[in-house]
Amino acid sequence: MHFIRRLLVLLLLILFWRPGILQAQSKQAAATKGMKLDTGQEIFEAACNGCHGPGGRGQPQSTLGFEPPSTFPDFTDCNGSTREKTFDWKAIIHEGGPVRGFSEIMPSWTDALTPEQIEKVMQYLRSRCEESGWPLGELNFPRAIMTEKAFPEDEWLLTSSANANGTGGIEGEMVYEKRFGKRNQLELAAPYSFLQRANRGWVGGIGDLVLGYKRVLVSSMRSGSILSLLGEVAAPTGNKTKDLGSGVTTFGAGAAFGQILPRMSFFQMQTGFDLPTDTTKVSNAFFWRGVLGKTFAQKGGLGRSWSPMAEFIAERDLVTGARTDWDIVPEMQITLNKRQHVRFAAGVRTPLNNTAGRSTQLVFYALWDFFDGGLREGW
Ligand code: HEC
Repeated sequence: MHFIRRLLVLLLLILFWRPGILQAQSKQAAATKGMKLDTGQEIFEAACNGCHGPGGRGQPQSTLGFEPPSTFPDFTDCNGSTREKTFDWKAIIHEGGPVRGFSEIMPSWTDALTPEQIEKVMQYLRSRCEESGWPLGELNFPRAIMTEKAFPEDEWLLTSSANANGTGGIEGEMVYEKRFGKRNQLELAAPYSFLQRANRGWVGGIGDLVLGYKRVLVSSMRSGSILSLLGEVAAPTGNKTKDLGSGVTTFGAGAAFGQILPRMSFFQMQTGFDLPTDTTKVSNAFFWRGVLGKTFAQKGGLGRSWSPMAEFIAERDLVTGARTDWDIVPEMQITLNKRQHVRFAAGVRTPLNNTAGRSTQLVFYALWDFFDGGLREGW
C-alpha cells in the first residue's frame, strides 16, 4: 500500500511540477538520512527548518521556493500554536498536510523519522511558544449543545431546537464568538424564534440580543482542567407582545469548567444566574448544566471524530416554592471536514420531571471555527 501511495504522490508531483516544492522536500529528506538526531531541536533543524524556518518562525517566499498557504504556521506565535491539539499535529507530521485538509507540500514523515523522533520534534514545537498562561488546545473540548465551554473561541455558531410534540415551535441562536489574546472572548448572540399561536398562525423574529464576555481564570495541563468566568447582558430588543422578548434588560453571571478524563473522555460544566433588572416582570433564575462525553476518532485519529455526550440541565426560578426542572440531552457531535473546524451536533432534550407544558425537543447546532480556515477550506 505504501508503495502504491508513494507512486501516486510521485505521479502527482510530476503532474503538478512546481520545482520549489520538490527541491524543498527532497533537500529535507536527504538531510535527515544518516544523521544522528537526538533532540527535538536537532530533528527540527535537519528535517523541518527548510520550510518552517529557523525556530519554526516561517520563511520568506524567496527562500521557500513556493508560495506559503495562508494557514502556514509560525510555531512561535502563541496565539496560533497553543490552540492546536498535539494529537492533530502528530497526525499531520505522521501523514502529511492533506490528512487535516492542509497543503500537500507538508510531507509525511512516517518513513523518514521514528515514532520517538516524531514525539521529540512534537515536544520541540510545543516549546516554541515561550509565554506562559496560554490555554492549550487539549482543553478545548467538543462543544455541548447547551453547556457553554470554558475555552475562548473564534467561532460562528447556529443553534436551533424544534418541539417534538405539543404546539409547533422552532427557536435558536446565531452566535459570533471572538477571542482576544490569551484569556478573553467576546460574544454576540441573536436569538430567533418561530412559534405557533393558539389560532395556529405562526409568529417569528429576532429576540433579545445578548452581549457576553468570557475570561479564562485558570488553565492547567497538570490537572487537565480549565475554569472561566462568564458575564452577559441581554437587551430587551425582542417584541414582547409577540413572545419574542422578555421586555426587560437581564444580566447574567456564571462560570464554565472543563476537565480532561482518561481515554479522550471529558467533563464540562456551566452554572450561572439570570438577573433581570425588573423582577416584577421576570424572576431571577439559576441554572446548572453538566456534560460527560468521549471522542472516538476513526482510523486511529486520522479520520472523522465522533463525540457522543450526555448532558444534564437543571433550571429553577429564584422565588419561594419554585421547583427545579431537570432535562437530559443525549447527543452526538461529528466533525464534518478533514480540518475538523466545521462541526455538527444533534440531540434530543427530554424533560425528566415537571413535564406538564414542557415539550421534548430536537436540538441541533452547526459551528465553524473561523480561525482554522474559511468555511470551504479543509474538506
Ligand atoms: C517541504 C516543506 C515542508 C517541510 C520539510 C516540513 N513542512 Fe510542515 N508544513 C509545510 C506546509 C506548507 C504547511 C502548511 C500547510 C497548510 O497550511 O496548508 C505545514 C504544516 C505543518 C504543521 C501544521 C501546523 C498547523 O497549522 O496546525 C505541522 C505541525 C508541521 N508542518 C510540522 C512539521 C514538522 C515537524 C516538520 C519536520 C519533521 C515539517 N513540518 C516539515 C511544509 C513543510
